[in-house]
Amino acid sequence: MPTRNREGHRRCSLAVFPGSFDPITNGHLDIIGRGLSVFDEVTIAILVNPEKHPLFTVEERVAIIRETFRGEDRVRVDTFSGLLVDYAERVGASVIVRGLRAISDFEFEFQMALMNRRLNPRIETVFMMPAESYSYLSSRLVKEVFQLGGKVRDLVPAVVERRLREKYGSAPPASPPPRARVRGRVR
Ligand code: PNS
Repeated sequence: MPTRNREGHRRCSLAVFPGSFDPITNGHLDIIGRGLSVFDEVTIAILVNPEKHPLFTVEERVAIIRETFRGEDRVRVDTFSGLLVDYAERVGASVIVRGLRAISDFEFEFQMALMNRRLNPRIETVFMMPAESYSYLSSRLVKEVFQLGGKVRDLVPAVVERRLREKYGSAPPASPPPRARVRGRVR
């Protein structure tokens, strides 16, 4: 959505897509794709939060996202600390994009959007819905499923699956839980 400034020069619309991205999932990719259909550029902004204990370091998350979007010059990756609206203002973004998967996301996102608006009314939050097939997907579940030997192939970019393997070692094959024995019979 190119806009023009007062002198009539074309101005790029820049949206910031903030988050932890520990790791980035196909649900995030879906939202970024939708963001690109509306805005000229999307900057993926990784929050540096020393209080959290992420699986991937910030540097690893940056590298993963760079590899995922190699050749896509409308997507950038950056890190930030402090207030998100201050970061957005600093990089010249007027929009924050957030994904809404389900109603359960809504309350937290609503609070955050209104607080951000109070902090800086010039920055607008835009919510986008991912494809239904990603509505249950989260970084936390991806890590848990992989660690327990489940497949994450269609849920994350290939680079994430590879990095998960490097972190955890080869995930053990998914095996069914031991079947309960009831009166000597296997159910
Ligand atoms: O992927 P996440 O963990 O849901 O992302 C949350 C994030 C990074 C968007 C949020 O925690 C954030 O914006 N933190 C920056 C600090 C800030 O601005 N806090 C006030 C927002 S109400």
